Amino acid sequence: MTFRILVADPLSEEGIKPLKCNPKMDVTMQTSLSPEELLEEIPKYDALIVRSQTTVTRKVIEHAKKLKIIGRAGVGTDNIDIDAATEHGIVVVNAPNGNTNSAAEHAMAMLMSLSRNIPQAYYSLKQRQWDRKKFIGTELKGKKLGIVGLGRIGTEVAYRAKGQRMKVIAYDPFLTEEKAEKIGVGYGTLEDVLRSADFITVHTPLLKNTRHLINADSFAIMKTGVHIINCARGGIIDEEALYDAIVAKKVAGAALDVFENEPAIDNKLLTLPEVVATPHLGASTVEAQENVAIDVSHDIARFLNGAVAENP
Ligand code: NAD
Ligand code: MLT
Repeated sequence: MTFRILVADPLSEEGIKPLKCNPKMDVTMQTSLSPEELLEEIPKYDALIVRSQTTVTRKVIEHAKKLKIIGRAGVGTDNIDIDAATEHGIVVVNAPNGNTNSAAEHAMAMLMSLSRNIPQAYYSLKQRQWDRKKFIGTELKGKKLGIVGLGRIGTEVAYRAKGQRMKVIAYDPFLTEEKAEKIGVGYGTLEDVLRSADFITVHTPLLKNTRHLINADSFAIMKTGVHIINCARGGIIDEEALYDAIVAKKVAGAALDVFENEPAIDNKLLTLPEVVATPHLGASTVEAQENVAIDVSHDIARFLNGAVAENP
């Protein structure tokens, strides 16, 4: 028996080689399907692999007559209607470990871009302007980084920030005193973190209870001149409230890799010079893409061969 697998978002060729070489797996790459085309295609497949571009809606799942498993080549499964999948007996697996390093490195790159105005200065120099006064930055040493969500990526960010000699305080509902001590960070309530940090970076999943976790009330209690980093998910921070807080000079700058609606080309935050932004590149490294493709392919092959998936 051959299983048909649809890869609907670009994935590392190297990473899915084992799946492609498996005689029991028939892999089709169709990475620019419109939502309507996906509805037409999906009934033919036993497995679907996506990154974050493709939204797997209830409608897609209802059209998927033989679908057994959906693989998310990455961490966040917020682009997949998990309730609908579960109702239809479809297993959803992700690849939670393969891009941790890359995402943490990207968060640090964004933090440092923000503190030293690197994208703005680069753009100015490319316009042939030699302006050394406009781009006075802020040192990281001795500043306090507040981490909201101390999971895989948050923890890696903490280690790196300590390397920059920052003080680190974290909030995570599952953080224990022992874990905080082991990582070498302070911990407190969300309010403690928001009130005391000079830089705040969010690393939670996007869930019902983390949507707009950082909102107008949060900005109100932060230090004036705080810097905000979001390399986790658009929607964890209320973008309207962030915009207002930047315009009001409460927030000195924000570094954003993710947005409430992507692609975010018309997002008004992009009009603000205080905003440094990348188009959801946290996991976009050769290594991370290979890792997540290997992990998700492995899990899908295991599952279709009758074993239990490792990352349901
Ligand atoms: P993780 O599950 O390891 O960590 C998430 C942490 O958030 C957990 O420790 C959890 O306890 C904590 N948390 C949950 N609810 C919380 C709340 N209300 N307040 C504070 N903490 C809360 O996940 P991860 O692998 O570290 O990924 C973190 C985020 O980064 C996810 O949203 C993921 O989708 C995103 N991500 C983005 C990119 C990118 O390309 N920008 C790449 C990888 C991951
Ligand atoms: C993730 O959740 O893993 C990220 O959004 C990375 C991605 O899919 O590009």
